[in-house]
Amino acid sequence: MDYKAFVEDQIASIRETVGTGIAINALSGGVDSSVVTVLGHRSLGARLKTVFIENALMRKGEPERIVKIFAKMRIPVQLVDARAEFLSALKGLTDPEEKRHAITHTFYSKVFGRLVRETGATFLLHGTILTDIEETVAGIKRQHNILAQVGINPEKEYGYRVLEPLQTLRKDGVRKVARTLGLPAEITKRIPFPGPALATRIVGEVTEERLEIVREATAIVEKELAKTRAFQYLAVLLNDKATGIRENKREFGQIIVVRCINSVDARTATPTKLPWEKLLRISKQITAIKGVNRCLYDLTPKPPATVEYI
Ligand code: XMP
Repeated sequence: MDYKAFVEDQIASIRETVGTGIAINALSGGVDSSVVTVLGHRSLGARLKTVFIENALMRKGEPERIVKIFAKMRIPVQLVDARAEFLSALKGLTDPEEKRHAITHTFYSKVFGRLVRETGATFLLHGTILTDIEETVAGIKRQHNILAQVGINPEKEYGYRVLEPLQTLRKDGVRKVARTLGLPAEITKRIPFPGPALATRIVGEVTEERLEIVREATAIVEKELAKTRAFQYLAVLLNDKATGIRENKREFGQIIVVRCINSVDARTATPTKLPWEKLLRISKQITAIKGVNRCLYDLTPKPPATVEYI
């Protein structure tokens, strides 16, 4: 595939579709939304409003880091604090699909609805990729960023049209486009991270306290495994507890699962054979997080498991 031609075609197509209108896009810092941000910015310049929605589900230090990277490329990104809205929408929910739905609804309808009205945008640029569409259509999972494919008319329901310039590409193709666009390696080489963010790594209710635990564990896993060539690695908080001993006292504590997989496009995956020493180092740090007394390594391929836990 000619990725330069792909970029030119997409820029021409975004320009033609948006015309003199205003478009908006949400940047999460992942490779998909980063590519869409650059494509949109090259197509529309200041008529593209890029926002980073702080939804309380992000990794440690993430919002500031991403805004900085794009500032270096002279692409302004507005940070929108919607933490309270997401946390209240997730309150009390334990069913995976209900949690995903609450995030989708809060994101597109509530927060975006408001931003669209404020900016006058009539188009939303979105980083949906082919795998998201296929898995949603196949009923394997309702991906957070699929609307038209599951029969939601965003124009009718939310008041804007959605453009998905990456919908013919898989992850490997998106990375190639990212390099073609000159995005820095810290973006192009980044491991995938899901739209609903850390909520996909909490089994059971998503609360501020539980997010804090999984955020810490994620930071440890990402730091320790940064040099592996694995496709993706993550930490998950289970909705169960186990007995342990801390400072000579029995403690009923939290359980964290570490997952590290090899894959080409996330449609199938196999667990990575990590060095034992590495696993022990990770376990030691994770069980130093307050309230966590067990750390497990997930040996399941996809299928039958998925990558994420919800
Ligand atoms: P699963 O868990 O379905 O994940 O095996 C496959 C790949 O997709 C990512 N993922 C998502 N990405 N929105 C996204 O943008 C989502 O709702 C979502 N769910 C899963 C996951 O991290 C893995 O790389």
